[in-house]
Amino acid sequence: MMRRPFIAGNWKMNKTVAEAVELAESLCEALGDVTEMDIAVCTPATDLYAVSQALEGSNIGVGAQNMYWEDKGAFTGETSPVMVKELAEYVIIGHSERREYFGETDETVNLKIKSALAHGLKPIVCIGESLEQNKAGETVSFVKSQIEGAFAGLSEEDARRLVLAYEPIWAIGTGLTATPEQANDIIREAIRDVLKELYNEETAEAIRIQYGGSAKPGNIADLIVMPEIDGALVGGASLKADAFSEMIKNAVAALK
Ligand code: 13P
Repeated sequence: MMRRPFIAGNWKMNKTVAEAVELAESLCEALGDVTEMDIAVCTPATDLYAVSQALEGSNIGVGAQNMYWEDKGAFTGETSPVMVKELAEYVIIGHSERREYFGETDETVNLKIKSALAHGLKPIVCIGESLEQNKAGETVSFVKSQIEGAFAGLSEEDARRLVLAYEPIWAIGTGLTATPEQANDIIREAIRDVLKELYNEETAEAIRIQYGGSAKPGNIADLIVMPEIDGALVGGASLKADAFSEMIKNAVAALK
């Protein structure tokens, strides 16, 4: 089963509109001829409009970093899937920072996934264990429980429209990266095997799974050649046009 590689930047809470447009335009110039993989940038909600305009017709997709599950109403401060859908193709759901600082749970993640899919958005769903869980040998059981929570009630057809991002929390923004072998093993044991149990082998093999956590130009090649790793969700290294473009190019070269 050939899964198309997919590298997405997660800008987190960075970039004013002017900065966002500048970065988007530079990426467009540097990466305009890349056909070998899907590329996207997930921007703050305030940048979505300008970035979607700047990238219109390009090979770089746009994503939001979060959304609420209701279409509209008295939910001050939230962004609805209807609003996101006008401006973006993807939406990150359940990033560990949202789970840790903003009370996101497996239940809210599941509600958001269902809503995003119902609106034709492509969710990038984040999962991953903490350092304590990792040290206690709980990685596989914890990630499995996150997968079961995220996919609860999803049909096989819906499940295939998700992208997963395995982001060990201890590797995010720390400079520590899971070794490619470690990440590959967890993705196989804790993710694809559960998807096989929940659905079937074909569906488990069809779903794209990114790695996230201190991915950068220097380590992307070793990560992306691993059989279970289909790309990356990139934080820090996606904030500069040079670094992000170099990463994509290194990944393309490694896959040749
Ligand atoms: P860093 O690449 O900065 O470690 O962030 C990873 C991440 O959280 C992407 O969603």
